[in-house]
Amino acid sequence: MKNTVITFREAKGREKLVMLTVYDYSTAKIMDQSGVHALLVGDSLGNVMLGYDNTLAVTLDDMIRHCTAVARASDNALVVCDMPFMSYHVSVEESLRNAGRLLAQGMAHAVKLEGGMDFCPTVRALIRASVPVMGHLGLTPQSVHALGGYRVQGRSLAAAQKLLDDARALQDAGVFALVLECVPAPLGARITHELAIPVIGIGAGPDCDGQVLVWQDMSGLTSAPPKFVKIFGQVDSAMRTAFTAYAEAVKSGVFPSQENSYSMSDTSLFDALR
Ligand code: KIV
Repeated sequence: MKNTVITFREAKGREKLVMLTVYDYSTAKIMDQSGVHALLVGDSLGNVMLGYDNTLAVTLDDMIRHCTAVARASDNALVVCDMPFMSYHVSVEESLRNAGRLLAQGMAHAVKLEGGMDFCPTVRALIRASVPVMGHLGLTPQSVHALGGYRVQGRSLAAAQKLLDDARALQDAGVFALVLECVPAPLGARITHELAIPVIGIGAGPDCDGQVLVWQDMSGLTSAPPKFVKIFGQVDSAMRTAFTAYAEAVKSGVFPSQENSYSMSDTSLFDALR
């Protein structure tokens, strides 16, 4: 079934939503055929694809390039693309132009942006321009320096209240769903319960309406993933086995064999080569 922002909203309270990050065509194709409702082209591509320490260096052009690859693979899943750092902070006008490029050139179905009530004017303007928006609260990686590192958010009453107020403000501004990252599970449950839109948790406990993980984290490709990650398959060892076997086969001359080579009945033609 084709997943849209409408099916996403309708899933609240009925069906758990499944989202994974993805950045390339081949992996997105597999996910699209595996029951994943939404493919998030996250700016975590800065970490897992480009090897940076954080997401701040990721550009709009990076996001467009990866999003088109994912969108071309998606027959069923909703494709959500992150707006990168500073692409929606300068002005509402610039945010509109940048989000427009993510939909028109990146082929995204929706954008995601980090931040609470301060960003509601931008969220409203995007929605007026027919750009569906997913919110992102809690640990917002683009604010890593302002937050003093990657740490659990909403542990004090004041911080929890601020998150709940931000969540309500984003809902009122029109976001169709909210990612809630790295907060205590009871707060994840409370915010999920308070909102009429789906809350997709990442390190926000089991009571959220859905879950999202970075695919390299949940498949064993990240060396020290955060506590909230569960590893569902050791893709790293499968890759290591394949790469090592290939290296050994090439070095020993076992590969390529006749089977992997093109033959020609009459090779006398090549006698004329000079
Ligand atoms: O960029 C990303 O991967 C994300 C997820 C952590 C939700 O925003």
